[in-house]
Parts: sequence; C-alpha cells; structure tokens
Amino acid sequence: MAAAQQLSHVYPLGSRLNDSGRLEVGGCDTLELAREFGTPAFIVAEDDIRARARAFSEAFSARTDDFEVVFASKAFPCTAVYRLLFEEGIGCDVASGGELALALAGGVDPARIHFHGNAKRREELAFALEAGVGDIVVDNMRDLILLEDLVPEGRRQKIFLRIAPGVSPETHPAISTGGPNTKFGFDLSHAPAAIERARASDAVDVGGLHFHIGSQIMDIAPFRTALEALTGLGDFPAYNLGGGLGVAYRAHDDPPSIEDYVAAKVDAVNEIVGPGHRVIDEPGRALVANSCVTLYEVQSVKRNVDTYVAVDGGMSDNLRPMLYDARYDAQIADRFGGGTRCHVVGKHCESGDILVRDADLDDPRAGDIIVMPATGAYGHAMANTYNGALRPPVVFVKDGDARVVVRRETHEDLMARDV
Ligand code: LLP
Repeated sequence: MAAAQQLSHVYPLGSRLNDSGRLEVGGCDTLELAREFGTPAFIVAEDDIRARARAFSEAFSARTDDFEVVFASKAFPCTAVYRLLFEEGIGCDVASGGELALALAGGVDPARIHFHGNAKRREELAFALEAGVGDIVVDNMRDLILLEDLVPEGRRQKIFLRIAPGVSPETHPAISTGGPNTKFGFDLSHAPAAIERARASDAVDVGGLHFHIGSQIMDIAPFRTALEALTGLGDFPAYNLGGGLGVAYRAHDDPPSIEDYVAAKVDAVNEIVGPGHRVIDEPGRALVANSCVTLYEVQSVKRNVDTYVAVDGGMSDNLRPMLYDARYDAQIADRFGGGTRCHVVGKHCESGDILVRDADLDDPRAGDIIVMPATGAYGHAMANTYNGALRPPVVFVKDGDARVVVRRETHEDLMARDV
C-alpha cells in the first residue's frame, strides 16, 4: 500500500486526506459523495470560490479605490456560481444571450453585467439593452451600427471598445486572443476610426477600452506590453484588462499569485496611463478552476502496451486535454499515491479521449473512485452529450454538507428537443 501523500495546492482549499486516507472536500468524504450523487460528478467547494473572490477584491482594494472585479462567466456558467460570486460582490461578463439569461436568473444586478461577443446577433444586443446591462463591449463596427439602430431615442448605452493590442502571451494558440491576427476586437490600425465614430454617436457613451490577450497565462509581463500598445489611442476613464491568470493543474505548476497579478495590472495602469483611472478585471479560470474535483468510477482496467484505466466520463465532461493538450493530476480517492503507471481514459469512441496520460495510481481496479482536481473552469461549461453521455451534476460542498445545484442529465433530457 502506497504511503499517504500530502495534498497539493491543486485541490480545493480546505481539502484533506482523512484518517482512513480518503479525500475530503468541503468537509465531505468523496467516496460517500460518489455513492450519494453517482459519477461522474463535479464537486465544488463553495468556500474555495469565496476565498479566491475575496483575494481578488482585497488585492485590488489594497491598491486602488476605483476598480471592478468581473467574473468571466463562460468559465463556469451555472446560476449557483453566478449567485455565489455576486454575493461576494463580483459582477460578471457574459458572451451571449444565453449567458445573460443565466446571469439574470442567478440574481446578478444587470448594472454589474458586461456584455461581450465577437459575433453578437441583433436579438442578443436588443436583449442586453432591455435587461439594462452595465456596458456592452463593442468588438467591431457592426456592433456600433446595430447599437445606433437599437438604442432608444434619448438613451445612451455605455460601451467599451475591445482592442487587439497585437500582443501574444505564452499560452496554447487556441486561447491566445490579442495577437496581431485575431478575430477579436479592433486592431490598432482600425481602432481610431471606431473610437471617433463612437464618440460622435448619440447612442453610446465610451466608458473605456478593453483588451483580453488570452487565457492560462503564467507570465504576467505581457499585460503591461498590451496596455502600452493602447496609449496612442487617447485617454479614457476606465481600462478593462481582461482576464487570463493561469492556475495550477498539476502539483508542480506554479502560477503567479492573485496578489502579484493584480499588482502588475494596477501598477501598469498607474504608470502607463496614470492614476485616476478605473481598472476592471475579468478573471474566469482563476476564480473557479481549483474549487472543483471531478469524481469518476473506474469501469475497466486494460493492460496493453500501456495500461488503460477507463472511467465513466471523458471528453463529454472535460474537453480540455483534447483541445489544448491540457495536463491534469488524478488519484484514487481513497488510495493516494502508488506506482502503477497508466492512462486515465474516457468512455468515448475515440482514441484521443484520454483524460490523464501517465498517471501513477495505486493498483487501480474496476469500482475505484478516481478524483481529478482543478476541473472547475471550462469543464461544466464545455460539457456535451457525445455518445449520449448524461452531463454530470454540479454538487456544492461546504462544512460537511452537500447540495446539488445542477442535477445530472437524464435520458428524457436527451430527447427533450426532439419533435
Ligand atoms: N475576458 C474575456 C473577454 C474572455 O474571452 C475570457 C476567456 C476571459 C475574460 C477569462 O479568461 P480566464 O481568466 O478564464 O483565462 N476554454 C478555454 C478557455 C477559453 C477562454 C476564453 N475567454 C480553456 O478551457 O482553457
């Protein structure tokens, strides 16, 4: 039997291995959670999200009076998460009418919602205007033209203009969004005309500029370079510097702290555009990724050239390994450690459906519960029903209590849209 290990920082805050060597999250035994709620399941430690929200707010308020932390809700769009973060004073950004509907249902004050999108439909803009969102982040000229048409006479909608600063941070190319040839925002050569048109319009008020250079960023220097690139565009009351702070997926990952990330951004604004500007930040992943572990049950163990440990989920509940070569840790929930080198694979009909390559587990066998940490960001969000998979429930845990906030999908749900 492998020696018990200390938990790494990829697990939700407050997690521990109990005296029997079982993982507890939010005071709940994960084997009991698997028994009660089934597998696969997303288990979310409420207190972890709250602590990270507070860390952002405290880091900002230590440095400036004029800031807003906005949850990039695409990372974990379910009403319970919107509600929890709003309770912590965090507004949100939404990237579609669907996310806007979720945010409103989650009780977020519309004035604290920022509406995004690089291909907004007219109906989506009309919905955002009717809901009274705080600002609309204009991505292209067509957004402006539609707004001029849609904003009622006598009203002005606050907007931000999204600029592509031509800066590419070090990250996977699929999640780099501010480089010199991107589909997002106005590039630097087209930005002046957009700013001029927006400033001349009766329909909108220009609140400031926005950029979002990418996601899972481990080196924060490019935020400064991106802001420097905007200085030629004039002075604006507010700067939204997007999100992007990277997180630890594996024990040896060492992302910048929330404090260092916030300090770098606030310092950049103070030093480059000067004090007296509002700073807005849009973290998604860094607020929610590490709050969650996914529980799976092992269905079969196959010894080929390599050993394949097949679980009851896969690319239907976590697309990140397949889309971005994302690497995760995995353990058996009641036998951490161990020396059986194996691949934790999903149940889907594709060889690429591999959740964790080269995991070291303790003699895995059918019926074991596997725990995969750091699945809170873009897991539930990108879940799908491939192979008729039933999307997992989201279970909030806190102080030893567990409650389902999104139930598991059913076969009836799979047919609900068939006519
Ligand atoms: N703001 C805007 C305008 C964004 O597009 C995004 C993410 C964020 C903020 C938040 O970025 P974060 O803090 O989460 O890095 N599905 C991919 C990530 C796509 C990110 C898209 N935009 C993944 O699983 O890695």
